[in-house]
Amino acid sequence: MSSLGHTAGLGDLGDLGHLEPVERIGQDELHALQLERLRWTLAYAYDNVPFYRRSFDRAGVRPQDCRTLTDLAHFPMTTKDDLRDNYPFGMFAVPREQVRRIHASSGTTGRPTVVGYTERDLSTWADLMARSIRAAGGRPGDIVHVAYGYGLFTGGLGAHYGAERLGCTVVPVSGGMTARQVQLIQDFRPGVIMVTPSYMLAMVDEFERQGIDPRSTSLRVGLFGAEPWTEGMRKEIEDRLAIDALDIYGLSEVMGPGVSQECVETKDGLHIWEDHFYPEVVDPFTSEVLPEGEKGELLFTSLTKEALPIIRYRTRDLTRLLPGTARPFRRMEKVTGRSDDMIILRGVNVFPTQIEEIVLRVPGLSPHFQLLLTRRGRLDHLTVRVEARPDCPTARRDLAAGEVVAAVRDTAGIGVDCAVVDPETLERSVGKLRRVIDRRGAEDGEQG
Ligand code: DLL
Repeated sequence: MSSLGHTAGLGDLGDLGHLEPVERIGQDELHALQLERLRWTLAYAYDNVPFYRRSFDRAGVRPQDCRTLTDLAHFPMTTKDDLRDNYPFGMFAVPREQVRRIHASSGTTGRPTVVGYTERDLSTWADLMARSIRAAGGRPGDIVHVAYGYGLFTGGLGAHYGAERLGCTVVPVSGGMTARQVQLIQDFRPGVIMVTPSYMLAMVDEFERQGIDPRSTSLRVGLFGAEPWTEGMRKEIEDRLAIDALDIYGLSEVMGPGVSQECVETKDGLHIWEDHFYPEVVDPFTSEVLPEGEKGELLFTSLTKEALPIIRYRTRDLTRLLPGTARPFRRMEKVTGRSDDMIILRGVNVFPTQIEEIVLRVPGLSPHFQLLLTRRGRLDHLTVRVEARPDCPTARRDLAAGEVVAAVRDTAGIGVDCAVVDPETLERSVGKLRRVIDRRGAEDGEQG
């Protein structure tokens, strides 16, 4: 149940009558459905995408070799580079005329990754987003404020069509113009908000700047995703806004938002919509499939996609699979980070989420922080730059910085610097946040 109890008004949460039949499926039936869809996907990809035909042939496997779900492990994996190498439309399994929409993720370097959807893919996506919003506590008739970016990014349009499919009233605000976001929330009185957690925080600050108590808004539920965020951040958002904050996960290569979703009644990790996506977790180095409960890199195989079937896609996201609770589908633990975001400092691995947990525990510090990587001589150096909360006394700042340095040393075993800066001085993101600023390539480095 809600940790805050303020969703008591959602009296129907205990009533499972609104679930789709598949959300109560038995394990045997689920596995049979997955196997049938998996075998279809493998044959379909092999027959229609030259890339998959070549890669299966090279690995010496045929679609018909997949007789059980575990046989999938014999098939080759697909990477972001494979999509880039087939830029722009080479991975599509249907003639371009049947592709109704394109999305793309920019990435930080190189060509964007292009993905496409048939009419039916778009409909499945809307269904799964509707299922996600409902699992988070949204209901038909709700007003949904969508502040994910609209455009090539899948966040805005994905949320939009899902909310419409559920029978909600959508406010398609997109990201940016924070003062206007606040005004629209005040005027239209949405019950549900969909936005990155980092931008939600920027909006909460804006409410306060305007002298409005963020706990007094009409908002009841938020679906936050597109970037890693911690339990500490959940508490921060729930306390300051008096809402239920739920995690939503997805990636454009697999569909977009709505691949997995936390349920408001349990808030215990994200249920993967396994009737459409088959998950595996592998050792990121050996690629060996790991048993349930072990942490590694998450892989997805689509089970129903037409335009862009995707086989064993390496997400680079690190998590573990857990058995279902509120739904029969397996859960994935909150993603703590991507292998790409991992900072390796003098041989020790650190994720920005580890620092987030620490910063949020230290009194006087706000959740707005940046990680600045520099080089001093031949050594890499990490500085945590974090904003003080507006009510943090100046005298407290040095103590707070010392507490961060000590906690990072104790938990991660590395020495860092911490600079506590004035409120409102670090750059805010209006979409996906970039936590790490890497200045190691810069001449002489910066001294933090
Ligand atoms: O970020 C889709 C999305 C939009 C998900 C809105 C949720 C809400 P991409 O731009 O392709 O798609 O980026 C996908 O973002 O592999 C993860 O590394 C990260 N990510 C997405 N959701 C979460 C989450 C969208 N809930 C990449 N927690 C993924 C942690 C997330 N990381």
